[in-house]
Amino acid sequence: MDSAAIISELLSLTKQTREHVVYFRELGVENIEVEHQPGFHLKTVSATATGQHEPANASNRAAASGSPKGASAAPQIIPIDKQPTSMASPVTDSLFGDLGPPTAIEKSSETFEEIWADVGDCTRCPLYQGRTNIVHTEGNRRARLMFVGEAPGAEEDAQARPFVGRAGQLLTKIIQAIGFKREEVLIGNVNRCRPPGNRPPTQEEASMCKPFLLREIAAVQPEVIVVLGNTAMKNLLDIKQGITRVRGQFQDFHGVKVMPTFHPAYLLRDPSKKQETWQDLKKVRDYLDSTSKRPA
Ligand code: URA
Ligand code: URA
Repeated sequence: MDSAAIISELLSLTKQTREHVVYFRELGVENIEVEHQPGFHLKTVSATATGQHEPANASNRAAASGSPKGASAAPQIIPIDKQPTSMASPVTDSLFGDLGPPTAIEKSSETFEEIWADVGDCTRCPLYQGRTNIVHTEGNRRARLMFVGEAPGAEEDAQARPFVGRAGQLLTKIIQAIGFKREEVLIGNVNRCRPPGNRPPTQEEASMCKPFLLREIAAVQPEVIVVLGNTAMKNLLDIKQGITRVRGQFQDFHGVKVMPTFHPAYLLRDPSKKQETWQDLKKVRDYLDSTSKRPA
């Protein structure tokens, strides 16, 4: 390499490093330390300018047995075996129908194209009336890590891609912050059509759409699913407590580890919560680092 090429490479590395530091900072990470082995580990500083922890949150978490505010208003989850039979596929019937002790998800050999063919030009719930596009799950179909949100917003509806608006751009940074490229993971939503005015999908709307997500999960078998925000969490997990209580604690979904964390749209409204999200995502990264079943 001649010296011009070396200088150009150094400049490029400097630029990339600066970009990394900027987005870690945006996520509430103040200190990046390189540890010995293996690879890089990022260290966070707990009381930082960006990460103002709310004392209320800490005491909420400590009082784990208390009744969470608003728990009684939690949406009811319709077990898949109570859903209209026309909606439940053979795959979801056999894999998720038995809601006694959760049975492990068996890998299905369905392709996304087969699943999407069943979605078709869907009119199963009223959300079809306001959609421009159905927004299917996107990304690596051999992903170890999957992110599940609530439903498409305006930008997603226009582009037919999940998480491409402002919240999606923040999600992309979060994914990169734990060492993955966006295209290495899988990104989907409980609902595939945009609700009017971005309201949360109703329980019934979610129950109509969810079987397709479950079939994708069975086809890919990710090692970890990150559920983003209350609506996604309550639609995937039979859980009464709210996201503020449950976030950061691995849950089980038929043998798949599920990490609930805040929705990136919520982080845009309250950036101080990025610090907690970062803590949650570090647990995901550390877990995936500790298993190496297959490359990302
Ligand atoms: N919010 C979501 O929950 N999903 C998207 O795809 C975009 C925004
Ligand atoms: N409420 C939600 O629905 N989602 C969040 O991420 C935080 C609060």
